[in-house]
Order: sequence, then structure tokens, then C-alpha cells
Amino acid sequence: MAENRIYVFDAYGTLFDVHSAASRHAAAIGPGWERLSEIWRNKQLEYTWTHVGMGRHRSFRQLTSESLDFAISATGGVPQGVRDKLLNAYADLSAYPEAKDVLARLKEGGARLAILSNGDLDMLDDAVAAASLAGLFDAVMSVAAAGTFKPSMAVYALATRHFNVAPSAITFVSSNRWDIAGAKAFGFCTMWVNRRGAPDEYPELPPDVTAPDLKSLPI
Ligand code: LAC
Repeated sequence: MAENRIYVFDAYGTLFDVHSAASRHAAAIGPGWERLSEIWRNKQLEYTWTHVGMGRHRSFRQLTSESLDFAISATGGVPQGVRDKLLNAYADLSAYPEAKDVLARLKEGGARLAILSNGDLDMLDDAVAAASLAGLFDAVMSVAAAGTFKPSMAVYALATRHFNVAPSAITFVSSNRWDIAGAKAFGFCTMWVNRRGAPDEYPELPPDVTAPDLKSLPI
């Protein structure tokens, strides 16, 4: 139930549609816009994982910029000016249509809400404000405070430290199955938002609940 529960949300892909950046500029990019967007997102995540493995840290904005350049090169280029528009779109990505209502309902029910994301704090604050979600969160947490990216356990520990609770008191919500695996390994209750009907993976670290969108909350 929602009362007294703490819900911690991943940001990109879970509350905000990362592909809304490229879809807004689909006409300028051309028919390959979805491929560009997929490569951009996959490279962005790959860069976070490689940096965790190397024990090096960069800002998420920097990795988002470098992965965009890779995606543009890999798909044959975009017209002048589109690169910067794509990158700037991260400041006001579209929230998923049900996100605001679900978050408001949880908060009205007495739950505490937070974001825990790879994003830089200013990127997250911009996206939250642009989607009119600002008043709903008790905390917006960036991995920057841990000096590494997900799925490092040090990142998930930011949430338990912030709320001063055991991992089991937190329900972690993410559309990224690898993030759910990390959160489960840390000891959170987990809800995987599987919007695209992807096959399950990480069988040793299953989600507690799988749902097609956020409307299943509260769990
Ligand atoms: C985040 C990435 C995983 O928001 O999308 O942390």
C-alpha cells in the first residue's frame, strides 16, 4: 500500500521518454530517427557501465553528448543545427502520459516519492520542472553524489541514506531491467515497467512486480 511507503523512481525511460527527443525532430532527421535514437540511448548506457567498470566518473551530460555524436556518425549524419536541438531536448523530455497522475495519487495517499537517476542534478531539475512534476518529489537524487553510475550499490545506497531506512522499505521503479537487477541485488522491492514487452532477463534477480506502465502503482 502507498501509506508510509517510499517510491524511488528511475528517471530516463521510466518517467521521461528519452525517445521524445528524436521523435520531435523526426522530420529533420529522416526515416532513420528511431535507429538514431536507439543507438544514442544504448551508447549512453554503455558509456555509464564502462565508466563504472573502469572506476572513472564523468558527468551524464558529457556521456549523453558523446553518445549522441556516436549515434549521429553511425547513422550517416543529421542536418546542421539538429545535433544541438537533440541534446537540448534532454532539458524538457516528455513525461509518460500517466506519470503525473500516478505520482500525484501516490503522494495524496501518503507515500514519499523520489528520483534516483544517472542524470546530473541540473538536468533532472530541468526535466522535472518542464514536466510540471516539481512539487511531487521529496527528493531528486543524482548518482553524482556517489561519484559513479548505476548499477553500483553505492548509488542505491544514496536512497536508503537519504530516507534513513532499510532497503526493503523502498519500492524502486524502473523501466531498465538491468537497473531493476541492481536494485534487487541491493535489497529494494522492485517494479519493472516493461513498456515494450521485452523478454525477461537476469533470472537470479527478478522484479517483485512487472507492469506495462506506471498505472499499476501503488503496489
Ligand atoms: C537513469 C537512467 C538509467 O535515469 O536512465 O538513471
